[in-house]
Amino acid sequence: MSQPTIESILQEKRLFHPHSDFSQSAHISSLEDYQRIYEEAKADPQAFWAKLAETELDWFAPWDKVLDWQAPFAKWFVNGKINISYNCLDRHLNNWRKNKAALIWEGEPGDSRTLTYSQLYREVCQFANVLKQLGVKKGDRVGIYMPMIPEAAIAMLACARIGAPHSVVFGGFSAEALRDRLNDAAAKVVVTADGGWRKDAIVPLKEQVDKALADDAVPSVTDVLVVQRTKQKISMSVGRDHWWHDLQQGVSAHCPAEPMDSEDMLFVLYTSGSTGKPKGVVHTTGGYNLYSHITTKWIFDLKDTDVYWCTADVGWITGHSYIVYGPLSNGATTVMYEGAPRASNLGCFWDVIEKYGVNIFYTAPTAIRAFIKMGEHHPKSRNLSSLRLLGTVGEPINPEAWMWYHKIIGGERCPIVDTWWQTETGGIMITPLPGAIATKPGSATKPFPGIIADVVDLEGNTVPENEGGYLAIRHPWPGMMRTVYGDPERFRRTYWEHIPPQNGNYTYFAGDGARKDEDGYFWVMGRVDDVLNVSGHRLGTMEVESALVSHPAVAEAAVVGKPDDLKGEEVVAFVTLEGSFQPSEELSKELKKHVVSEIGAIARPGEIRFTDALPKTRSGKIMRRLLRNLAAGQEVSGDTSTLEDRSVLDKLREGA
Ligand code: WT7
Repeated sequence: MSQPTIESILQEKRLFHPHSDFSQSAHISSLEDYQRIYEEAKADPQAFWAKLAETELDWFAPWDKVLDWQAPFAKWFVNGKINISYNCLDRHLNNWRKNKAALIWEGEPGDSRTLTYSQLYREVCQFANVLKQLGVKKGDRVGIYMPMIPEAAIAMLACARIGAPHSVVFGGFSAEALRDRLNDAAAKVVVTADGGWRKDAIVPLKEQVDKALADDAVPSVTDVLVVQRTKQKISMSVGRDHWWHDLQQGVSAHCPAEPMDSEDMLFVLYTSGSTGKPKGVVHTTGGYNLYSHITTKWIFDLKDTDVYWCTADVGWITGHSYIVYGPLSNGATTVMYEGAPRASNLGCFWDVIEKYGVNIFYTAPTAIRAFIKMGEHHPKSRNLSSLRLLGTVGEPINPEAWMWYHKIIGGERCPIVDTWWQTETGGIMITPLPGAIATKPGSATKPFPGIIADVVDLEGNTVPENEGGYLAIRHPWPGMMRTVYGDPERFRRTYWEHIPPQNGNYTYFAGDGARKDEDGYFWVMGRVDDVLNVSGHRLGTMEVESALVSHPAVAEAAVVGKPDDLKGEEVVAFVTLEGSFQPSEELSKELKKHVVSEIGAIARPGEIRFTDALPKTRSGKIMRRLLRNLAAGQEVSGDTSTLEDRSVLDKLREGA
């Protein structure tokens, strides 16, 4: 098993048509329908989005302009008033959905809980009132650092309800990473839990929060709210820390949803880029609500009777858009799972599907590759006949993994939606619509209606069919990020200037390489910048390098990705040492640990290679291309004439 290469993908000719019974009942039920809707949207995008916003969402006040595009800054549904928590909750209470399961939670170890729409509404309102009592006001940022428990979704919806933008930080991030994010967002309150279950161990979340806040390192934080989850001993700082269940006592279960301006910030979510510290990706209310809603409905072909499960963590954008906001805005039943496969229970995912009769299942290629290794007897010994649609996200899926997913999990009857998108795009951009578009293993197929995707060169010209280029988006869309939190110039630079604007036409640069084939299908090839994709998690090489050089032993570090069968990519670090330090197995271990404590376990280098010097150009730029070759155990390819000192390369080769 390996990652797709251009060669292997060019040979991929298999085509899987949707079954007619699936198509017949699908929201978008034929290729002709897709093409018609796509062309309509392309001809008049504003009319297309306006009609959907009107029919699919509830607004407190209408907008007076659909799009205000001061490129690259967009405003959607200008002056419209809306609240996403209202659209996810209140509007489902005056019909039969009132007592429908909104959230089914399967926790560790063996815990479970189901919240109906009215129960979820009450919990969200109560917590919104708790936040208000702590003095949280519209516009104040709230950090959420939680395990995968219902309270994570409740906290998000409560923030949205009162207009306090949330910033969810993945529970696997370290105290350092948490501190940086809380500081950048200047969060007023942090919502966390005493701990979370990770396989059979406890992740000490509250302890990490204490570390992050120690020595008044995040002066904006006044209060910390703690859910009791694992019940291990933690310390509570008097005046600052409160138990969620204490503050909830006697608090009203009604809280009106604040009418938000369509362009009010809904959340900021940090993601890695090729330079510097993680960026705060800002999403606003109206456009994001519409985009997450309609993509969920059409791409997952969501019906009121479906049980839908996305295996992501709410700490990532996938969890925001496709566990919480998209499904709930549609009035769906969304499953949330705290667990992870482990030696004692390799079939736990399939147990969840069987237990709840999951119909729609959305996961990542890295998970699928892990399942393949675990053996097919695990899924085969469970009843997976409830499944009708499968999805993948996070990285290119290799055709072998696609075929396994199709056969073993989908029983050859379920369409697979391979969904390409990013934290920045807010929702899925390129994907099959499952009743309409035939799939090819490894291709995300076609752009969603209203999305003008292209493969271009660095001048912005469309490259010829089947030639590699950069994935780009030509027109603004409602779910797009609005800015980098606190740094609009960085937003412009990072996404809108790689491809020079032509006569005021700005093109969004996604940072991915891609190819479009003779049928207009997109094949996403992976990042073209210094961003790694480790198990579907995005990681900036610079972040790992800064973590390494913050260790006293390290003089210089260069980090590259090495292809990995399971994780997609693995972190390999080339390191030069300060004066008296000597390479050793211990030091290697210590450096790995150091990276984990600076960033989190997802960034742990698989390999540390000590070297006397790094290959650089005459202008001092590290030649990562060469390091990538070396890490992968390949011969160094391409031009090496710009290398300043050729002996560095020979030594690195010997070292390997
Ligand atoms: C990057 C975005 C938003 C989903 C979770 C990741 C890669 C994502 C696919 C796919 C090929 C994919 C891209 C993208 N990616 N989905 N279906 N096929 N590549 O969000 O952390 O913002 O990462 O993930 O490289 O740029 P993210």
